[in-house]
Amino acid sequence: MTLRPATNADRDAIAALLAHHRLPLDGFRVDDATVAVANDGTLLGLAALERYDGAALLRSVAVVDAGQGVGAALVRHLLGQADAEGRRVVLLTTTADGYFPRFGFSVVSRDEVPASVQASEEFRGACPASAVAMMR
Ligand SMILES: CC(C)(COP(=O)(O)OP(=O)(O)OC[C@H]1O[C@@H](n2cnc3c(N)ncnc32)[C@H](O)[C@@H]1OP(=O)(O)O)[C@@H](O)C(=O)NCCC(=O)NCCS
Repeated sequence: MTLRPATNADRDAIAALLAHHRLPLDGFRVDDATVAVANDGTLLGLAALERYDGAALLRSVAVVDAGQGVGAALVRHLLGQADAEGRRVVLLTTTADGYFPRFGFSVVSRDEVPASVQASEEFRGACPASAVAMMR
């Protein structure tokens, strides 16, 4: 498995994987995404880090085959980037609030999320209002 920045050539496979998991495509930018690919180039998973003033939004974490460590590799990779850049990382999830505590995330109220992230498209509507906010 290799992790690399996503390119426009990955867009269709990414859109299909997000749709499969019912994750929003609204506001998604290929430039924010990292993909995990197999040796033959097949998409194994992706995750995206949207950068905002002093903070970042981790979103679109999705894998093809669960339980192979692909999600953890992607999350750790992007958290390493955020740490190096001194950004607090926020995420919204309706399905995986039991997954992210292992990476140091805990549930917060939306009021606690940095204003720059609250203004993002995902926060303003792409994710349902029922989604849980988590911060690291
Ligand atoms: C959540 C997701 C990204 C995890 O990736 P993964 O590659 O399957 O996870 P890993 O192999 O790194 O880790 C597996 C562990 O995570 C746990 N896990 C996986 N998904 C979970 C979830 N939704 N909630 C709680 N725990 C979860 C597994 O039970 C396993 O636990 P263990 O280590 O105790 O055995 C993946 O299951 C996925 O694509 N889910 C659908 C999309 C989604 O909900 N994304 C999150 C929204 S931002």
